[in-house]
Amino acid sequence: NVLILDFGSQYTQLIARRVRELNIFCEIKPYNNLPEDLSGYKAVILSGSPFSVRGEDAPHPELGEIKGKKPLLAVCYGAQYLAHFHGGEVASSNTREYGRAKLSFIAEGEPFFADIPVGSQVWMSHSDTIKSLPHRSVRLASTDDVENAAFKIEGEETYAIQFHPEVYHTTDGKQLLKNFLVEIAGVAQSWTPDSFVETTVAELKAKIGDDKVILGLSGGVDSSVAAQLLHKAIGTHLHCIFVNNGLLRKNEFHDVLEQYKHMGLNVKGVDASARFLNALAGESDPEKKRKTIGRVFIEVFDDEAHKVEGAKWLAQGTIYPDVIESVSATGGPSATIKSHHNVGGLPDFMKLKVVEPLKMLFKDEVRRVGASLEMEPALLGRHPFPGPGLAIRILGDITPEKVAILQEVDAVFIDGLKEWGLYDKVWQAGAMLLPVNSVGVMGDERTYEKCVALRAVESTDGMTADWVNLPYEFLQKTSNEIINKVRGVNRVVYDISSKPPATIEWE
Ligand code: XMP
Repeated sequence: NVLILDFGSQYTQLIARRVRELNIFCEIKPYNNLPEDLSGYKAVILSGSPFSVRGEDAPHPELGEIKGKKPLLAVCYGAQYLAHFHGGEVASSNTREYGRAKLSFIAEGEPFFADIPVGSQVWMSHSDTIKSLPHRSVRLASTDDVENAAFKIEGEETYAIQFHPEVYHTTDGKQLLKNFLVEIAGVAQSWTPDSFVETTVAELKAKIGDDKVILGLSGGVDSSVAAQLLHKAIGTHLHCIFVNNGLLRKNEFHDVLEQYKHMGLNVKGVDASARFLNALAGESDPEKKRKTIGRVFIEVFDDEAHKVEGAKWLAQGTIYPDVIESVSATGGPSATIKSHHNVGGLPDFMKLKVVEPLKMLFKDEVRRVGASLEMEPALLGRHPFPGPGLAIRILGDITPEKVAILQEVDAVFIDGLKEWGLYDKVWQAGAMLLPVNSVGVMGDERTYEKCVALRAVESTDGMTADWVNLPYEFLQKTSNEIINKVRGVNRVVYDISSKPPATIEWE
């Protein structure tokens, strides 16, 4: 196991990604909240940071039990931290040190740089620079602009680099991490989806025993994989609840429910469409729509959870980015403030003990775990779909008729993407029903009907996204099919906005 100490860099998660790609398990912890017991960690990585080591507010990690005692790799801020506080000098840099650079010097025979050639491209992103190295250090690499691009401290397994090995543009970054973790620190590359399933199932069995567990299925990848893992561990003690909020895709409730049953899950489908649509009637404000759906969901779920007598646990499909976001955004301790606010007002199911079997995994790892559990590729490869569903793709107020129209449009679009082999190339796709009527002509008749917008984006995490250049022939065929098949729609447009400044959803 590898420990990554986070100083708040935007790239910290990427370090973890790269380490996991080497089949090595790692955890990110905030620099100011070190685990008490460090004995399980075979190596430590210090992340970059938006701070300057020379600033008053510079993060000061407690490295007493780490530096000189365990293999340590310091990246960017970490490297500057080692230099600044151990006899070197860090100063503001005169030249811009952002972007691509090439390693112009690499110390010969250095295992840290094994299989990395002079000229290898690295990615720099810093405004301070290391003018002189800390005590007992040896320079290991330079670029044209950055003399001290890498160094090690003699007599220790301490390595430092000014560039970012985790970034895609550092061509040999993964090799460098491998050199450090595998060759120098001796960490085993044994973390695989199969081994994860095996150990997690054993842990879940031990933790849960014969207790009953409740889990809300959404049809999405995370909750489905969480359910399958728990099912493997505790079988029918797992009680799954799949709520139809009336805002799912066409046939989704029926089809996905069948799929869950086919997987052997103990699942109850609850059709609460009318309850949701009644609560939403007349509401056009996006945030109010979201809140209403959230509230009704909690009510419905709480009713259903009460029917599972003696349940002790609530399982959730939380994944690692959710966990890191809530920790880093709040600096850790304040995460609990929220639940204080909620005391007394919590629905009963939220008072259950929480089990989150995927909370250490990234999205693509969840998919690999699902594959290791032999789940359907079609289920694992599904596009993300927002919790409030079609409600935030129907601009303005929601009626059952509008939902039905959008379901038809969406089905033509999504089925078409699948037929054309485009579905897996797109990160997320869907259709928006606009609150606009426009004039058209069908046969000899003048029409005055709805307009829909199609949206397909590529992204890695939904934080930024770009529209996908779908083939014109595909758009042409899809548009024809929508207007011919779906009554009430006479115009189709394609959204060519990126995020930012637009968002993926229209509300
Ligand atoms: P935006 O529209 O913010 O969407 O660019 C980014 C990603 O988040 C999804 N999304 C939501 N998911 N509840 C959800 O569970 C919501 O209220 C919500 N709003 C947006 C969106 O589908 C995209 O994947």
